[in-house]
Amino acid sequence: MTHFRLLTQNPHEEAAPDDQLAIDVLTGLSAMPKHLSAKYFYDDTGSEIFQKITQHKDYYLTAKEVEIITNIKKQLADVIDEQEIDIIELGVGDGHKSQLIIDGFLQSGCKVNFYPIDISEKAMLMLQENIVPNDNLTIRGVIAEYFDGLKLVRGQSTNKQLVLFLGSNIGNFNREQSLGFLRKLWASLKADDYIFIGYDLKKDVQRLTAAYNDEDGLTAQFNLNLLSRINKELGANFKLEKFQHFGVYNPVLGAMESYVLSTEKQEVYISALQRAFQFEAYEAIHLEYSYKFSTKDINQLSQQTGFKVVKHFTDSNAYFVDSLWQVAKEDR
Ligand code: AVI
Repeated sequence: MTHFRLLTQNPHEEAAPDDQLAIDVLTGLSAMPKHLSAKYFYDDTGSEIFQKITQHKDYYLTAKEVEIITNIKKQLADVIDEQEIDIIELGVGDGHKSQLIIDGFLQSGCKVNFYPIDISEKAMLMLQENIVPNDNLTIRGVIAEYFDGLKLVRGQSTNKQLVLFLGSNIGNFNREQSLGFLRKLWASLKADDYIFIGYDLKKDVQRLTAAYNDEDGLTAQFNLNLLSRINKELGANFKLEKFQHFGVYNPVLGAMESYVLSTEKQEVYISALQRAFQFEAYEAIHLEYSYKFSTKDINQLSQQTGFKVVKHFTDSNAYFVDSLWQVAKEDR
């Protein structure tokens, strides 16, 4: 007699991360127009290329944000004016900008508890190596999704909290996602806590276009690396030389849009999906939006999500804004 064991699956269980990539690739390449999610850019190679992009002269965003933070770090600590603060960074970079902000508070005699939150353990290790120890600084890295991490940090202290979301990462959300993200942030914080968010401003189209089409081809490599990742992780046979990076500004959306174009009619087979996908000559795969903002856009976002703007800080070219907001809640 044969015995069958029933394999049951919890219907509420989410697909494992590896399956999620496969599902997202299947969905995106089956759609018209084709698309892939920018969240998959950041494997080890993608993160390394992105680090190089942030140091490239055409990609002004990082240099301009560093300029702002260098100039206002003391003022930021003075405006917030606390004896001890929890600084929570959502998504970590190389630690350079975090260190500047921390320095501003330490120099003002404020104790700092720094909680970087990121899902990448590797990014966290790199960051922790780059933060200079100080008797008035504690660092507790949280390896988690942003809002799970925030919940965890919230249970740790009653200090005023300052949440950092730098680099115009908010620009990779569409309007609805930005509103949703900011509302979730508002709900995760106490009245009068602070958030400090980086926004890349709307500007001359040539300047914008150059930042996403750098002359050394780093952005092209960054985008094409997503196809390499699918080759490696899902056993696909994308031939990278038959795809071309294309970055263009959409003035109606107010966003840079990144695509890869198939330079000829071709078929790509993905063994993990047991499926082939057809590409017409110059057919596009959409990869990323990088939204740009006006001061009015930033003010509107704060009004619609329950924050009050404390101050906008900009750079010498008015290319970028770091905006300090405070949580407004009503006690009745
Ligand atoms: C991470 N993010 C803010 C970058 C941006 O500018 O949208 C990602 C990037 N894509 C191409 N270059 C940089």
